[in-house]
Amino acid sequence: MMEEQLEQINSEVIACTRCGLCKERHQVVFGSGNPRASIFIVGEAPGFEEDKTGVAFVGKSGQLLEKILLACNFSREKEVYLGNIVKCRPPHNRVPSPQEQAACLPYLERQIEVIKPKIIILMGSTALKAFFGTSSRITRERGNWKNWFGYPVMPTYHPSALLRNPNLKRDAWEDFKKVIVKYRELVDNEHYCKYI
Ligand code: URA
Repeated sequence: MMEEQLEQINSEVIACTRCGLCKERHQVVFGSGNPRASIFIVGEAPGFEEDKTGVAFVGKSGQLLEKILLACNFSREKEVYLGNIVKCRPPHNRVPSPQEQAACLPYLERQIEVIKPKIIILMGSTALKAFFGTSSRITRERGNWKNWFGYPVMPTYHPSALLRNPNLKRDAWEDFKKVIVKYRELVDNEHYCKYI
C-alpha cells in the first residue's frame, strides 16, 4: 500500500540525523498532497510557515503556487503532490548546502518511486540543479521538457522568484500551460482548464 510505504519513509525522515538541519527545525516537512497524484512538484526547502505547520507550501510562495494550480484546475487533493529537496528548514531560509541536499535527496527519490508520477515539475534553481547537476541554469532550461530516469520533467521558476519579480509570471504561466497539455496527453485528455 503506497500510504504505508510513504509512512515508512516519513518515520525514517523524522528520526534522520544525516545532516545538521534536524537540530534547528521544528517540524519535518515530508510532503503533502495526493499520494496517487500524477504530478509531483518539487521545491527547495521548507520555510518559516512550513517549519511551523509541517505542511509543504503553506507560506507566501505556497499561496501563489495555489493560485497557479487553481488556474490550471489542479489541486493537492487530486492531481498534485508537493515535496522539497530537503525536508527540514535551513536556518534563515538559506539555500541548503550540497551536503544537506545529498543527504536528503534519497528520501525524495523514494517518494517519487512510490508515487510514480506521470509528470515532475521542478521549481527553481535548487531543485533543477539537484536533479540535473550544478551546471544547469533555470533561466535557460525552464519551459523545456527534460527527462529524468524516464519521467518527463518541466523546470520552471520558484514561486518566490515570481513574488520577487512579477515580470517572470508570464513565462511561468507558459510553463504550466505546457504541463496542462502534457497532462491531457498522458493522464486525462478531458482535463478542463478555462484558459487553454
Ligand atoms: N518554498 C519551498 O521551496 N518549499 C516549501 O515548502 C515552501 C516554500
